[in-house]
Amino acid sequence: MNELVVETKNLNFSYSKNKNDIQDLELKVPKGSIYGFLGPNGSGKSTSIRLILGLLKKNSGTVALFGELFNEQSRLNVLNKVGALIENPSLYEHLNAIDNLKISANYRQNISSNRIQEVLETVNLTKAKNKKIKEYSLGMKQRLGLAISLLSNPELIILDEPTNGLDPKGIIEMRTLIKDLNKKFGTTIFISSHLLSEIEKTCTHVGIIRNGKMLYQDTVASLKDSKGTNIKVEIEVDNPNEGVSVLKNLKMENISLLDDLLQIEVKNKNEITDVIDVLRTEGIHIYQVTIKNNLEELFLSLTEN
Ligand SMILES: Nc1ncnc2c1ncn2[C@@H]1O[C@H](COP(=O)(O)OP(=O)(O)O)[C@@H](O)[C@H]1O
Ligand SMILES: [Mg+2]
Repeated sequence: MNELVVETKNLNFSYSKNKNDIQDLELKVPKGSIYGFLGPNGSGKSTSIRLILGLLKKNSGTVALFGELFNEQSRLNVLNKVGALIENPSLYEHLNAIDNLKISANYRQNISSNRIQEVLETVNLTKAKNKKIKEYSLGMKQRLGLAISLLSNPELIILDEPTNGLDPKGIIEMRTLIKDLNKKFGTTIFISSHLLSEIEKTCTHVGIIRNGKMLYQDTVASLKDSKGTNIKVEIEVDNPNEGVSVLKNLKMENISLLDDLLQIEVKNKNEITDVIDVLRTEGIHIYQVTIKNNLEELFLSLTEN
């Protein structure tokens, strides 16, 4: 059986009387997964995370972490096994990374100075460890925030939109780091984002939330798996109208144009080569072929209107 590191049941919460901000949320985060909590801005991701960590008081329902119900008695024991990076980390700008880590380590039990070096190494900040934080980029600050959350060697790390505001390099660094942590130490990672591409590239599992409700929860692989269903392909060509008529002559079904891009459906990947060959033979130039995956379609259909 799959062990769950986070499990919520019938979780409800409202900031005010006339609105349900979280409705009957049932989160299931398997041990060892990288779980992507995906939803548009304002859908309730940060609120859910605060509820999981006991930072907000739920109206009803249960939260279990590591198979243990989260309550006043279990709180400290459970939170010892969790590292969290929510909002921007609060760092001492005039101090360096080592001193920031030392201060955070003082709030916890049994953190060796060796561990401080280890977490710096993990987040690739060893070289910059003596620099003052005010000289750090946002990406470096986020990584130091992550290092702080790693001090106590957590089994679960919760990251609320960790790539928000980062430049492309920072985003890739954070993504690589998350995957490495999961792979090397088996750490379960719960990560929220409003960007599908982010979740798709990083996660093994996904939960899609909108208006405080969980719309879908499954493995990313099963979502991407197109067995049994047609593959949607988008093709950019120099002459889209000509492309449509060429493909219609092939007796292909479901051909359309969207923003001058050919939209077709094929049964398997081999058919994509056939289509390319036919278009090329007819002298049509192909600039780009994109497979539209189910996850993207699903996310759009679930979160539109
Ligand atoms: N402190 C707050 N007081 C009142 N309403 C809030 C507060 N924080 C968030 N909300 C509302 O709760 C809903 C969910 O917000 P949030 O959890 O921040 O979404 P997300 O993190 O997915 O962007 C939104 O409608 C938001 O306006
Ligand atoms: Mg948020």
